[in-house]
Amino acid sequence: MAFTIIRHPLILDKLTRMRKEETSSKDFRENLNEIGQLMVYEIFRDVPLQEIDIKTPVLKTTGYTVDIPVVLVPIIRAGLGMTEGIQRLVPTSRIAHIGLYRDEETLEPVQYYAKTTKDIESSYVIVVDPMLATGGSASKAIEIAKSWGAKQIKFVCLVAVQEGVDRIIADHPDVDIYTASLDPVLNDHGYIEPGLGDAGDRIFGTK
Ligand code: PRP
Ligand code: URA
Repeated sequence: MAFTIIRHPLILDKLTRMRKEETSSKDFRENLNEIGQLMVYEIFRDVPLQEIDIKTPVLKTTGYTVDIPVVLVPIIRAGLGMTEGIQRLVPTSRIAHIGLYRDEETLEPVQYYAKTTKDIESSYVIVVDPMLATGGSASKAIEIAKSWGAKQIKFVCLVAVQEGVDRIIADHPDVDIYTASLDPVLNDHGYIEPGLGDAGDRIFGTK
């Protein structure tokens, strides 16, 4: 298990724009997807490569190609807002979907959708959700991905708190976790402070 905070000036600048209450849905979505793209560099650092023989216009040489299928698993809704940016840099990736919402009283995840893709067992699988709060949703989504046969799993979010990170480490010690920020506190309503509010509502303009 590895826990990585991806700190980069451009990510911090974009994340700050997203945190601001007055930021529009359009700007929120654009910044979220752009941060997703920037995080891809770190998340895919250890992706297996295959050497291949190629010929440039000048001579023959050895090149490299990603040697494993990639599956992105957005947790609907908010995970969808980050997935397009990641897929732009990994255009051959397939997408499996998991629909979860948190019960407002118990904060427990409730599943309403799940659809896998082919070859997930042999794929490099990235579960995507901008928010890691109690960790219940991420843990459930990883459990579902494992039930589909996924073995090499990473979890990527934008804002996390320690409680959520600890929950994934406890439930899924084999999963690497990436975030752009570790915020200080989870409040009594299960919201991250300072956080950025309800990510799904801000992405889709609901509420
Ligand atoms: C949000 C967020 C995560 C979850 C995180 O989804 O996108 O999925 O909460 O909280 P947790 O770590 O405590 O489980 P939400 O339940 O609001 O659903 P939505 O994406 O449909 O808005
Ligand atoms: N889900 C969100 O969208 N925001 C939070 O702060 C916590 C969970």
